Amino acid sequence: MINLLHRRLYFLAIIPVLLLGCSSKPELIEQKCSTCHKSSVVYEKKHTMVEWERQLYGMETRGLTLSPEERKAILEILAKNYSLK
Ligand code: HEC
Repeated sequence: MINLLHRRLYFLAIIPVLLLGCSSKPELIEQKCSTCHKSSVVYEKKHTMVEWERQLYGMETRGLTLSPEERKAILEILAKNYSLK
């Protein structure tokens, strides 16, 4: 019984993550990455995933705030479209 409840809660908790994943398209980049510089900075160069992780970290030290979900979604967009691999 408790177990079932937990599973339901887990399922509910995962919905926003899935939604975010599905809508994870460049709007998130527009929204998160165009405040300090043009978002075109993001599109200009391709990087490996390791480099993108470093870039994101660099942006975070400059003041960018990302939730873990946003971070993941952004890395997915970058991996799909702006990655060397
Ligand atoms: C808090 C401010 C801030 C935010 C938000 C921000 N950046 Fe930056 N970013 C900078 C600064 C400062 C630079 C260096 C100066 C420049 O190139 O304009 C930079 C430069 C860059 C560069 C070029 C680095 C290079 O080596 O040429 C990339 C790529 C980049 N940002 C990606 C991103 C991505 C992706 C996001 C969103 C997830 C983002 N930035 C959000 C501040 C920010």
